[in-house]
Amino acid sequence: MNLYTALLRPLMFRFDPETAHFVTVEACRIAGLIPLVPQLSRACLEYSATELETEVAGLRFANPIGLAAGWDKSGRALRMLDHLGFGFVEIGSISARRSAGNPRPRLFRLPQDRSIVVNYGLPNDGAEVVAMRLASHRSRAPLGVNIVKTNDGFNAPACSDEDILTDYERSVVLMHSHASYITLNLSCPNAKDGQDYFALPGIISKLLERLGSHNIDCPVFLKVTPNPDPAALERLITEAEPFAFVRGFIFNLPQGKPATLHFTTPQTNWNRMPGAVAGKPVERLINTCIRELYCRMPRGRFFIIGAGGVFNAEDAYQKIRLGASLVQIYTALIYEGPAVVKRINRGLSALLKRDGYKHVSEAVGQGLC
Ligand SMILES: Cc1cc2nc3c(=O)[nH]c(=O)nc-3n(C[C@H](O)[C@H](O)[C@H](O)COP(=O)(O)O)c2cc1C
Repeated sequence: MNLYTALLRPLMFRFDPETAHFVTVEACRIAGLIPLVPQLSRACLEYSATELETEVAGLRFANPIGLAAGWDKSGRALRMLDHLGFGFVEIGSISARRSAGNPRPRLFRLPQDRSIVVNYGLPNDGAEVVAMRLASHRSRAPLGVNIVKTNDGFNAPACSDEDILTDYERSVVLMHSHASYITLNLSCPNAKDGQDYFALPGIISKLLERLGSHNIDCPVFLKVTPNPDPAALERLITEAEPFAFVRGFIFNLPQGKPATLHFTTPQTNWNRMPGAVAGKPVERLINTCIRELYCRMPRGRFFIIGAGGVFNAEDAYQKIRLGASLVQIYTALIYEGPAVVKRINRGLSALLKRDGYKHVSEAVGQGLC
């Protein structure tokens, strides 16, 4: 029990999940404007240790624990996010045009599973507005900007290849000079027949070729469907390899409720909740994907950012030992509060020392046979 789980969480859980999310982001935005509050927060929430410092894709991180995309979709609370103890922060997903996302309700809690079901449909303020916000912000820690194709709504006509590629290109051009790294969220609303557009052979190369003409001056990560099928992973690596600016991968949430997810909540409850599942139920699937990708990818050339079901230091360490160089959290913040970042970092530092590692990078992939 701590202040968050004893008082704040019960209070927040009285609101519907989207209102609670909105209120939290706004509270962070406002707190960031009050003199000394960010510094005070950092003094309480930061944990520094040399073994946690790492370098990935040419970027330096004070610790490997980052905030995953989707919490601050439009970069509204950047100042405060820099003071919560994260080693890096990823904002977005941001699209070329502003999007309202899907109709409400579109966010649900499964407390028994320490999980969130998300059907936001990528609402955000659009790349131009967010680029202006970023232009007046100097981040302490590396800042990732997650970019996605604009969601024009359920009834929008299917997009052509040209529409999709141009949408990504426009956002990347506006964002890359403000970001430490870019993540391309390769999920594509309004694709023909609801297909998984980027699963089609050659499409990722097509997008990267298009972006390659812009001299992108930061590393790019590809956030992809969590499919552990070796053929799919080999194809991903083959399509990314010719593009030097691509430095790694993140696994996204799987679409819907595949049988590979494990719930304790009765199916009749989560069946009524449209969307993707975050938190503990996806951990095993994502960990399998990380392991399978790490075994196949050229090390040093590519890095993995692992996100999915990390709630404590052991969870983060497991992802690192399976091949992730950095780890992101989201659902843990909702259930455990912001102090979870410091707890994970402190615990991770102890685990590294226990196992004789001087730096977290030495532990990456060491859990594989
Ligand atoms: C409410 C919510 C919104 C999200 N929105 C995005 C998003 O806009 N873009 C994205 O790439 N991932 C998004 N994600 C996925 C997270 O970035 C992360 O990959 C996933 O939640 C797994 O981490 P977790 O189990 O710690 O939550 C979202 C997740 C949640 C819970």
